[in-house]
Amino acid sequence: MKDIITLAIESSCDETSAAVLKNGREVLANIVATQIDLHKKFGGVVPEVASRKHVENIDAVIQTALDEADIKFDDIDLIGVTYGPGLVGALLVGLSTAKALSFALNKPLVGVNHIEGHICANFIEDKNLEPPFICLIVSGGHTHLVEVKDYGEYEILGRTRDDAAGEAFDKIARALKLGYPGGPIIDKLAKIGNKNAIDFPRVYLDEDSFDFSFSGLKSAVLNYLNSKRMRNEDVVVEDIAASFQEAVVEVLVNKSIKAAKVKGYNKIVLAGGVAANSGLREKLIQKCSENNITVKYPSIELCTDNAAMIGCAAYYDYIKGKISNLTLNAVPNLKL
Ligand code: KG4
Ligand code: ZN
Repeated sequence: MKDIITLAIESSCDETSAAVLKNGREVLANIVATQIDLHKKFGGVVPEVASRKHVENIDAVIQTALDEADIKFDDIDLIGVTYGPGLVGALLVGLSTAKALSFALNKPLVGVNHIEGHICANFIEDKNLEPPFICLIVSGGHTHLVEVKDYGEYEILGRTRDDAAGEAFDKIARALKLGYPGGPIIDKLAKIGNKNAIDFPRVYLDEDSFDFSFSGLKSAVLNYLNSKRMRNEDVVVEDIAASFQEAVVEVLVNKSIKAAKVKGYNKIVLAGGVAANSGLREKLIQKCSENNITVKYPSIELCTDNAAMIGCAAYYDYIKGKISNLTLNAVPNLKL
C-alpha cells in the first residue's frame, strides 16, 4: 500500500510548527520555532506579537520541515492544520497558509482540534498504543479528563471550571516573580522543596464530579504570599512551589484514577504541556501501579505544542474521510 504523507501546521499559541509524517505515526520532521523568549519580558503570550511572529516564521518553518523530511510539495497527500482552540490571530496564520497550500497544490485540507492533537501525541510516542483509554489533557489552556473510545471518538468526563492546570502554574510563577512559562520553573524548584511544608487546598468539587477547579488554590497561594509579605516574613520559594505542585498533582491523579475505575479502564494516558511535569508523572506512575493501571505519556518535546501531534490527528480523520473545505475558519473556543 502507498505511504500516506501528511504535512501538518500548528500556530495556535506561541509556537510556529510544521511537521511531516508518514502513515500518521512516523515523524519524518517536526520543526518548532518557539516564541517563548519574545513573550518572556511581558510575563505571558501577547496575542498580536504572537501573530506577527508566526507570519515571519511560517514559510521557513514549513520549508525546513520538508527539507529535513526530504519531501517535496508534490509528495504530500494531505495538509493537516490546527483551526482551534487558540488565539484567533495566531490560528489564522497557520490556517491561511494551509488553505493556500491546499488550494495551490490541490491537496485535501484537514482541520484539527488542538486538544485532539495533544491526545494523538501519544500515538506517535507509542506505536502500539490503541484506544480505548482514559486521557488526562493538561495544558496552558485546557484541563480535560476524556474517555477516548476510538480514534477521533471522545467523551468528555470532566473539565476545568476556571483556570487550566498550566495557567495556574504560570500565574503562581508570575506571583513569585519566577518568569514565564511557569510550569517548568516550578517543576524544577519543587524538586528541592518540601511538598508538605504548606497545606494548600485540594479542590475535588462534588463527590462524583470529574471537573476541576484551580482558582481557589491559586487564591490560597496568593493569600499565603500576601500575609507573609505583610508580616515581613521570609518565604521559602522552593517549599511554595513543591506544596502548590503537590496540591495540583494530587487532584489530577486521584480524579484520573477514579475515572479509570468508574469507566472500567486499565490504561491512563497523559497529554499536554503539563504532562511534562515530573511530579505529575511520578505520582501517576506510583498510584497507577498500586491500582494495576498502565500509564503512558509523551516525551517532553511531544507534550508541548508541536505540529507532529496535529499531523497524527489529521491522518486518522483523513483515513475516515473527514476532510475540511476551504471555507474552514479559525474557531478560538473550539470544543473537543
Ligand atoms: O500544551 P502547551 O504547550 O500549550 C497549550 O496548549 O496550552 O502547554 C503549555 C503549558 C504552560 O502553562 C506551561 O507552564 C506548562 O504547559 N508546562 C508545565 C511544564 N512544562 C510546561 N507545567 C508544569 N510542569 C512542567 N514541567
Ligand atoms: Zn497545546
